[in-house]
Amino acid sequence: MKTAFNTLNNRRVLLGVTGGIAAYKSAELTRRLQDQGADVRIVMTRSATEFITPLTMQALSRHPVHLDLLNPDTESVMGHIELARWADLILIAPASANFLARFASGHGDDLLTTVCLAAECPVAIAPAMNQAMWSKPATQDNQSILVHRGVHLLGPDSGLQACGEIGAGRLLDIDPLIERVSALFDTGKLQGRTVLITAGPTREAIDPVRFISNHSSGKQGYALAAAAADAGANVILVSGPTNLSPPERVEHVPVISAMQMHEAVQARVGDVDVFIGVAAVADYRPTLTQSQKIKKATHGKSTLTLELVENPDIIAEVAARKNKPFTVGFAAETEQLETFARKKLAQKNLDMIVANNVSNTDIGFNSDQNAITVYEQDDSLDLPMMSKRALSEKLIDRIAEHLRAKP
Ligand SMILES: Cc1cc2nc3c(=O)[nH]c(=O)nc-3n(C[C@H](O)[C@H](O)[C@H](O)COP(=O)(O)O)c2cc1C
Repeated sequence: MKTAFNTLNNRRVLLGVTGGIAAYKSAELTRRLQDQGADVRIVMTRSATEFITPLTMQALSRHPVHLDLLNPDTESVMGHIELARWADLILIAPASANFLARFASGHGDDLLTTVCLAAECPVAIAPAMNQAMWSKPATQDNQSILVHRGVHLLGPDSGLQACGEIGAGRLLDIDPLIERVSALFDTGKLQGRTVLITAGPTREAIDPVRFISNHSSGKQGYALAAAAADAGANVILVSGPTNLSPPERVEHVPVISAMQMHEAVQARVGDVDVFIGVAAVADYRPTLTQSQKIKKATHGKSTLTLELVENPDIIAEVAARKNKPFTVGFAAETEQLETFARKKLAQKNLDMIVANNVSNTDIGFNSDQNAITVYEQDDSLDLPMMSKRALSEKLIDRIAEHLRAKP
């Protein structure tokens, strides 16, 4: 049964089990994380296997337990880097005193410490040990080093210990532990919302081998899709041709031309809460696409005239819908940023427009960085140069605030 903690739904939790008496509790913890909708995979230290069998953990997690670092077979299947990349959270519960020491000093001498070193996702530790071990200056220094580096410390609890002593060092009880773990994902600002994002350029065919396009790389749209998915949204990414792999947990709808993008958006926009038009959609397409490759003129003509016709204005159509989603546009401009952005905001009836100055080649289209200004009806927000991913998180926060404020 799912409880109120279902920020864990669809989350990937890599549970690290170390060698302590509380290792048996990791079996129950696995079940309870799964009850909340989490996908749980297990890494055990060699010592942990003396306390609870990998077979038990494998049966409960329904996946092979990962034990070895230097094993050619396991490295080729889901090696330490893949495990680290797979996880939304690495949770070490119970975390032994020995593990804290090795993690704090940056060891990579077994699978669990190496995965933690390779991790870019949040890492949480739930220590469990005898009260004297916990209170030792070495252990206290280690946990405080880890906390200082951004590791989340869950517990320990105080009370009667397996060794018969009383004091701080018990593994947190499962309920509070699950609650604390789910709170780590409480960025679910868009939980239950559906977000439709367009990204990349479009290609407008001139003939079978040529097209008109632009420099959009798709990076900003893909970063937004990833940030929206991380905030718990169901994300549909309608994308023109890019060299990027779609983020995980995102429904990817590949298209080529503006007309295809228009059709894909129209078919899906009815049920969405947020529409973010990041794609650099071509304003015009050739009136006629030649069915055969256009040949170089042989009769001395040095010009070729292409007639273009206007493409549908995808975002304006979305914003004109009766029950329009919260609609966010992007304006890439080379001059008069605010004037053009505010004009587009008003003319197209958008809720928000994100403007960036693409005359500076260090930011914008192909770069991994961007600096933007967000304009709304009565407000604006400057976001200085940062990674497109960091900017995306800030934009998602802002959009979520608007949705919350909506009746
Ligand atoms: C019966 C027994 C119980 C133990 N319980 C704990 C414990 O609760 N917490 C702890 O930090 N170490 C405990 N230890 C010590 C660890 O098992 C030992 O430090 C081991 O090297 C930890 O390995 P790991 O950190 O790689 O899992 C216990 C040892 C034994 C023999």
